Amino acid sequence: MGQEIELYYKPWTLFAVMQSLGLLLFISGMIYRFSFYFKGRRKSLYKKPDYLLMLKAIWRYVFLQKQLAQQNILRWFAHISIFYGFIGLLMLSAIAVALETVIPADSSFSRYMLHGQGHNYYKAAGDFFGLIMLLGLLIAFVRRYIVKDSQLYTDSTDSIALIILLTLVITGFLLEAMRISLLPPSPELQYSFIGYNLAVIFRGISGIPSLATALWLFHSALNAALFAYIPHSKFLHIINSPLEIALNVSEERMRGDLYI
Ligand code: HEM
Repeated sequence: MGQEIELYYKPWTLFAVMQSLGLLLFISGMIYRFSFYFKGRRKSLYKKPDYLLMLKAIWRYVFLQKQLAQQNILRWFAHISIFYGFIGLLMLSAIAVALETVIPADSSFSRYMLHGQGHNYYKAAGDFFGLIMLLGLLIAFVRRYIVKDSQLYTDSTDSIALIILLTLVITGFLLEAMRISLLPPSPELQYSFIGYNLAVIFRGISGIPSLATALWLFHSALNAALFAYIPHSKFLHIINSPLEIALNVSEERMRGDLYI
C-alpha cells in the first residue's frame, strides 16, 4: 500500500496485466459460482425484505461477529483482527487511489496527505493494520496447525488462503523495510514502525533496488492470485456470509433457521 517517490523500479505495465487477469478470473469465477444459485426452481424469498432487521443482523454478525465470540473468544479475536486489518489496508489503498485520481493535487488535503503530517499518519496506519492482520493470521495458524483445535476442520483451500494472506503481509513489511533502507535516516521514517525496525536487515547491502523490484512484483502477483482464488475457496465467505446473514434474518420467522 502506499504512494512513494520511486526508490526502486516498478514495472507498472506488467502490474496492470497481472491485476486485470486477476480481476477477470475473479469475475468469471463469481459468475460460475453464483450461476448455481439461480438454477434453483423453488421460490427463494417468501417475504418482502425487512431492511432494518437486515441492518441489525449485519451489525451484529458481520461487524461484531458475535456468533464467533459465542463459540470461542480466541477464534473471534483472530477473525476480527484479520477482518479489520484487511479492511483498514483496503481503506488506505482507496485513499491512495483517490489522491492519485480524483482529489486535486493542489488541494490542502492532498498536500497534507502527500507532504505533511498526514503522510506520517498514513504510514503508521499501514503498519498498524498490517500488524493486527499478522497477529490474527498467526493465531489462526497456531489454532489450525499446532494446537489443532477440535472445532476446526482444515482442508487444503484453508491452508492456501491463510498462506497467501500471511505471505502478502510479510512481503509487504519487507518491501517497506527495503524502501526505508534506501533512504537517508530521518526521524519521520519511524512512523513506519515495523518497516523502520526491519530496515536494519537491508541497510548497506548492495542490490536492494533490484530485490525490491522483484519482491514488489511478487507481492502484487500474489494480490492478483488472491482475487482469482476468492471464488474457489473459503474466501468466498467474504461475499457469501453477509448476504446469507441478511437474507436469513429477514426470512427466518418463516424458515426458523440460523440467526436471531
Ligand atoms: C490483499 C492485498 C494486499 C495486502 C494484504 C497487502 C499487505 C501489505 C502490508 C501489510 C504492507 C506493510 C504495511 C504497509 O505499508 O501498509 C504492505 C506494503 C506494501 N504493499 Fe501491499 N498488500 C496488498 C496489496 C498490494 C498491491 C496490489 C500492491 C501494488 C503493487 C502493494 C504494494 C505494496 C507496497 C509498495 C508496500 C510497501 C509500502 C512502503 O514502502 O511503505 N500491495 N502491503
